[in-house]
Amino acid sequence: MCGIVGYVGDGNALEVLTTGLSGLEYRGYDSAGVALGNGRLAVYKRAGELAELEDTLEDVDADGVRVGIGHTRWSTHGPPTDANAHPHTDAAGRVAVVHNGIIENYAALREELSAAGVAFESDTDTEVVPHLIARNLERGMAPERAFRAAIGRLEGSYAIAATVAGSEVVHAARKESPLVIGLGEGATYLASDVPAFIEFTDRVIYLEDDQFARLDAGGAVVADADGAVLDPPVDTIEWDPEDAGKSGYDHYMLKEINEQPSALRDCLRGRIDGLEGSVHLEELAGLEPSGPIQLVACGTSYHAALFAAGMFRRRGIHADAFIASEYHADRLPVDADTLVVGVTQSGETADTMRALREANRAGARTLAVTNVVGSSAARECDRTLYIRAGPEIGVAATKTFASQQLALALVVAELTGSSHGLVDELRDVPDAVQTVLDTSRASEVADAYVDADAYFFIGRGYQYPVALEGALKMKEITYRHAEGFAAGELKHGPLALVTEETPVFALVTGEGELARKTVGNVKEVEARGAPVVAVSDGRTEVDRYADELLSVPEIGEIGAAVAANVQLQLVSYWVANSLGRSIDRPRNLAKSVTVE
Ligand code: M6R
Repeated sequence: MCGIVGYVGDGNALEVLTTGLSGLEYRGYDSAGVALGNGRLAVYKRAGELAELEDTLEDVDADGVRVGIGHTRWSTHGPPTDANAHPHTDAAGRVAVVHNGIIENYAALREELSAAGVAFESDTDTEVVPHLIARNLERGMAPERAFRAAIGRLEGSYAIAATVAGSEVVHAARKESPLVIGLGEGATYLASDVPAFIEFTDRVIYLEDDQFARLDAGGAVVADADGAVLDPPVDTIEWDPEDAGKSGYDHYMLKEINEQPSALRDCLRGRIDGLEGSVHLEELAGLEPSGPIQLVACGTSYHAALFAAGMFRRRGIHADAFIASEYHADRLPVDADTLVVGVTQSGETADTMRALREANRAGARTLAVTNVVGSSAARECDRTLYIRAGPEIGVAATKTFASQQLALALVVAELTGSSHGLVDELRDVPDAVQTVLDTSRASEVADAYVDADAYFFIGRGYQYPVALEGALKMKEITYRHAEGFAAGELKHGPLALVTEETPVFALVTGEGELARKTVGNVKEVEARGAPVVAVSDGRTEVDRYADELLSVPEIGEIGAAVAANVQLQLVSYWVANSLGRSIDRPRNLAKSVTVE
C-alpha cells in the first residue's frame, strides 16, 4: 500500500522522483523519501505528506545526480516517523531500498541479522532488505547478484527497488505487488503505477510476479527467478498526461464524478451492437456458467458485486456476492463448475487477491473485472474484463463504481444470453448520467443538511447496493456517521435511530412493487419527523413526502441505479467540501489496499 519510484537517466533524478511521488500519493501519504545516488548515496525522508519532504529537499543541490529511488508510504510496520519512512539503508549507507508489500518472515531475518551484529534503525519489515544486500556485497557478490540473493530470502509480497552507491543502476523485483518500467530516451523509469512517469514516457513493461529487472539509462533487462533473460512485451499507454491532472477541478473526486459519462461510453465502446441489440465480449468466450457464480470484492467494488449478483439472480442464475475477506473457498462448494468473479478497481486489493487465489486453487474458473491493465487480478484470473474507467486518483471510488456497474451488466448479459432489451437501456446510461450532472441540486441539499447528526440511505432491489454505496461515500469523505439499509429493514431496528436531525435519502425509481414499498418506508420515516431526500425519477408519489428532491431521468432499472448513485456522490462531495475535509485523500485511507 505504498508507492515506489526509480529513475536512471540523463535528467535530474531528484526532479523526476518528486514528480513521480506526487503521481503516486494516492497509494499512501503518511511519509515519503528519496535516495539519490552520486558516488555516495544521499537519503532524505520525512514523516507527513510529500510537501514535508519537498521542504527538506528545497536546498538540496541535485545537479548531476542521475540515479535515485523514492517512496510514499502507508504504514504497516511501525508508525509514520522519519525513521520508518523509506528508503532504508544498511549501516554503511551503501545500499538503499524502497518496498511496497509485506515481508512475512522479517522477524526471523531481523533476528538472524541482529545476531550477526546488525543494528536496526526502524520498526519496519523493509529494513532487513538493505542489510541482507549489504552482507552479500561484503561476501564479494556483485550488486545484481547480491540483490537477487537477498530477494531470494524473502517470504511475502513485495515490489522492491534498490540502488547501490557508485553504480548508475536500479535493481527491481516483484511478487504480488505492482511494478511497471517506463522506457524513455536516455532514461528509464520504475514505479508502482504509470501516473508516476506518464508525463515522461508512455512506453511501459509490466513486471510479472517473480521477475527481476536491472535498469540503467539505456533501458531495462528483465529476467526470471533463475536469471534467464526475458523478452517482455512493451505496451503503449493511451492515457493523455492531462488525464492524470485535475483539469481545473478543485478535487480529483469532482473531476472523476464528472468524467462518468465518457468513462461509461468507453466501457460500452465496441461491446454492444445497438442495431442487433446484442452484447459482444470476446474476453468471456467459453465462460458460460455451468454452475453457481461467486463474486468477491471489497468496499465499493463489493457494492458493485452485490448489484451484479442481483442481476444474475433475476435471470435465473445462482449468484452470490462475498466480501472478499469473508470468502473462504474451503468452506464453500467451489469446483470446476463454479465461476468466481473478482471485482476490483485496482486489481491489487489483498483481500480480493487472496480470495481469487483460493478460488483458483479450488479449481474454479476465474474472471477479473478490473480497471488496471496488467494488474495482479488480471494476471491471476483465467479471463479479464477491463472496465476502462481510466486512472482514478481520488481515494473515493466514483467513476470506477459506475463503470463496474455497466461492465458487470455486460457480463451478465453475455453470460446469460439476455442482451435483448438490455442493450438499449445500457446505451442510454451515459446520457442519463450527464443529465444528472447538468441538473443536480446536490450542493443545495448538502448545504441544507451539512450539520446533520447522521445520514441514512435506503433502497430496495438494485437500489439497495446503491444505498450502501451512498453511505460508504458519505462516511469516507465527510467523516460523518452514515448507514445504508435495505428499506424494508428500517422497521426491524434502525428506525430507532431516525430523528429530526437525521436526513434519510430514499432511492425510489421505477413504478413497480419495490418502488411502491419503498414509498411506504418513506412514510414511516416522515411520520417520525426525519427530513426525507428522495432520489426519484418521478414515477411514484414519493416526491409528495420528501423535503428535498434529487431527480434522475426515467430510464431502466440498471441505469436508474447508476444515475441515482451519481446524485449521492455529489451530495457527499459537497458536504465534505463545506466541512473542509481532505476529499481526495481522506484520513486513514489509501487508494489501493494491499494488506489483509
Ligand atoms: O481496488 P478495489 O476496487 O479492489 O478496492 C476495494 C476498496 O478498497 C475500494 O472500493 C474502497 O472501498 C473505495 N476506495 C471506497 O471509495
